[in-house]
Amino acid sequence: MLAPPAPSHLTPRLHCAAPRGWINDPCGLVWWEGQYHLYYQHNPCADMWGPMYWGHAVSDDLLRWRHHPAVLRPDPDGTMAFTGSTVVDGDRLVTLYTAAKPDPTVFQTVQRQRCATSGDGFAFEDEGIVLDNPGLPDMRDPAVVRHPESGRWLMVLAAGRELMLWSSDNLRDWREESRFGRGLGLATGVWECPVLMPLPGPAPARVDGAGGESLWLLVIHAGIGLPPDRSGAQYIVVTCDGTRFTPMMEDFLPVDSGHDFYAAQPWANDPAAARRSPHWIAWAAHWATILGSPSDGSRGVLTIPRQVSVHREGAGWRLAQEPLAALAAATEPLGSQPIGGGAVDIEVETADGTRVVLDYGPAGVITVGIDGDRLTVDRSQCDMGQWSYVTAAISQSTAVLPSPQGRLRVLVDGRLLECFADRGRVTMTDLIFPGAPLARVRVERGEIVRAGVAR
Ligand code: FRU
Repeated sequence: MLAPPAPSHLTPRLHCAAPRGWINDPCGLVWWEGQYHLYYQHNPCADMWGPMYWGHAVSDDLLRWRHHPAVLRPDPDGTMAFTGSTVVDGDRLVTLYTAAKPDPTVFQTVQRQRCATSGDGFAFEDEGIVLDNPGLPDMRDPAVVRHPESGRWLMVLAAGRELMLWSSDNLRDWREESRFGRGLGLATGVWECPVLMPLPGPAPARVDGAGGESLWLLVIHAGIGLPPDRSGAQYIVVTCDGTRFTPMMEDFLPVDSGHDFYAAQPWANDPAAARRSPHWIAWAAHWATILGSPSDGSRGVLTIPRQVSVHREGAGWRLAQEPLAALAAATEPLGSQPIGGGAVDIEVETADGTRVVLDYGPAGVITVGIDGDRLTVDRSQCDMGQWSYVTAAISQSTAVLPSPQGRLRVLVDGRLLECFADRGRVTMTDLIFPGAPLARVRVERGEIVRAGVAR
């Protein structure tokens, strides 16, 4: 096992990272007996992807995480615990995940869906494989939810460049219902980590008319093979009658306009979902670049938990994500004292030409700027050491703002920069590895509404 790294200015203060080793997808997230359980794809033995465990962290408030021993581990034959979901069934937690057995003959894994249950979220009992693989190279990452109208469980699996929809009465016996998505979405990248959730936010939850079908938010992540110029997270609003999906939009749209947003997953059983404002969290990374990113022995970080909603916009739908409400109270006012490498959460009333300048002293600056209806994160003027090969190729993230004036929130914490504009309708998530601690934050042509620091 690796020793935990010494804290540095790249260590996140407000974000969850593995105490040591490697982290990728958040998986199996569930709220249970008053606590948010966060499991994640984890290799505790090295800061590289490798034998996959389910690491475990627990929080009361989604901000302060306590780390616990891994709940799922590789089998003696090397079968790994890939991504999956946890649901509440009566008084037990039921986890469905992909058991991935290395197959040296094809340099791939054989992916089957496996079940484990738990009474407390800390100790799991294995129930073995519940869904075999008919020979597909990619069939993984079960997203499981209850479909209220039919009373059945639904499971969505990513299978190459399409999704499979399965149903079950008991979470163990599964029947394939239909497939969805062929020809839609980004044209490159294998699909992974689907998300299916009842439509969050203020829009109607059903289509109009008697017996109208329920609306759902469906998300996929196009991963391995996607060039690093954008994140592969994409969403579409669909109806679901329990046997098939019908798209309510022409095509998928991007979830995040930065480079490093992947494998988002909501918490099952989240009390905030009853208010239609559920939380999700994502891995702040891109498969094309993360393996070569600087590491202090803990490689990878998760985004801030975000409250997700979908809004009607003209004839279409728009996803919004805002940092969890409790974040504002987790910082103290940013006065004139040095930031000392802490995390900064700043909200600005913008105008044309607004610049939020993150000043890293001798390492240079990272700028978040508004020009007309464009929001841009510019990483090109900051020395990021080994990461500069990435910023040289893709130094900027740019997005069009639906309404150019408004509030911009910038959250910078160690190795992660997140921007939220236009009430979360545009978000940008980018990894950063500045060669010096954050020294100052300057705002030009904009009015600071609130600025906080966590040291
Ligand atoms: C996505 C992914 C999943 C898989 C897991 C393995 O990042 O490739 O498809 O379950 O990571 O760690």
